[in-house]
Amino acid sequence: MTNAPLNNDIDAVWLPFTANRQFKSDPRIIARGQGMFYYDPQGRELLDGLAGLWCSLAGHGQPRITEAVSAQLKELDFAPTFQFAHPKIIKLASRIAAIAPAGMERVFFCNSGSEAVDTSLKIALAYWRAKGEAHRTRLIGRVRGYHGTNFGGMSVGGIVNNHKAYGQMLPGVDHLPTTYDRARQAFSKGEPEYGANLADALEDLVALHGDTIAAVIVEPMAGSTGVLPPPQGYLKRLRELCTKHGILLIFDEVITMFGRMGAPTAAERYGVTPDMITFAKGITNGVIPMGGVIAANAIYDAFAQKNDWQIELFHGYTYSGHPVAAAAALATLDIYRDEGLFERGRQVEAWLADAVHTLKGAPFVVDIRNCGAAAAIDIEPAAGAPGKRGHEAIRRAFFDEDIVLRVGGDTIALGPALVAEQAHVERLVDGVRRVLGRLS
Ligand SMILES: Cc1ncc(COP(=O)(O)O)c(C=O)c1O
Repeated sequence: MTNAPLNNDIDAVWLPFTANRQFKSDPRIIARGQGMFYYDPQGRELLDGLAGLWCSLAGHGQPRITEAVSAQLKELDFAPTFQFAHPKIIKLASRIAAIAPAGMERVFFCNSGSEAVDTSLKIALAYWRAKGEAHRTRLIGRVRGYHGTNFGGMSVGGIVNNHKAYGQMLPGVDHLPTTYDRARQAFSKGEPEYGANLADALEDLVALHGDTIAAVIVEPMAGSTGVLPPPQGYLKRLRELCTKHGILLIFDEVITMFGRMGAPTAAERYGVTPDMITFAKGITNGVIPMGGVIAANAIYDAFAQKNDWQIELFHGYTYSGHPVAAAAALATLDIYRDEGLFERGRQVEAWLADAVHTLKGAPFVVDIRNCGAAAAIDIEPAAGAPGKRGHEAIRRAFFDEDIVLRVGGDTIALGPALVAEQAHVERLVDGVRRVLGRLS
């Protein structure tokens, strides 16, 4: 038994993180992309305000990536990485290791940010077992953290809407408090002065859980919850406390790695070296799914087996280190290097910071934050209908202002590609200003 063909009926698709029924009554279709712009099926040009979904850092339609992908398809379309390897994945791991913090040179590949996070949590648990400290099984996330939608990442994540339909989370998970305190930080420019002390909550968790904590995972800059910059000194303090209590520190850099922070990694920007870094999104400029975990050499070394035929980590995905994704990633890293995009992130940061804070005083604006080449505007929620104004903002931006905006709840997030010019940034912010002016 099969269903009758639906004949290109939009009803067949179930979109992620979308109000599907409303969407289908008035769809926002993106048919083409080039540089800073998308185009709808009728050819209307739309400014891309979030580099896809934080991933297309070099803009859309980069010919060098297209060529690398098509050449790779002709040469080697797939090869397993369980018990085998191919040349591009070896080269790519070395290239990533070269831009990672010192002493972090072991790269495990997967296919998304969610997989990268779950991989890092599994490595943390397996590491302690390999070290003879199998009692370290607890994982600590943070309120308002976003670490993807698989069970591990969802559990350490701290966004209530992402939890509430899914019953029990992973056992043994606890959370640090959010770094966000509107009363003390509202309208701060860049990293807020207040809040380094919020890392000290880890001492309370250690007092509660003793030596059973395996790892702490945080986003250095929390992007998906609405661009929460780390308070000045917070990450250093967290590193000190993790080291003091023998806890692994994982930086989830799925958004922040590859130039968004004006540096290869947020770890480098803040001068704090974690034990693992997760990455995804920007690694292939969003062209082909890929993610991964960069582990400190000492973590990898702890997995040495007594017998050389024994597998040390029973984990991986069929498409871990896919050759076509690896080819896309190598071409992407070449573009980032040749066009100096990591440094250019600093320039986009300055333009965005100047422009976005001019929205203070616009209708419904209750806070504005910026950090790296990213910014967010919090809108006052409509009475009794949280999320409604945010939803209206996406639609007005798309249909009235020719802008593709990212909104989570009642927060507008801006994160243009790192190839953006000042005029793109200003157009984006002016469009947001007009959208705010028309919200009901
Ligand atoms: C910090 C962070 N971790 C993990 C993820 C999940 O990545 P993916 O959607 O590729 O699974 C995201 C996605 O936005 C993210 O921002």
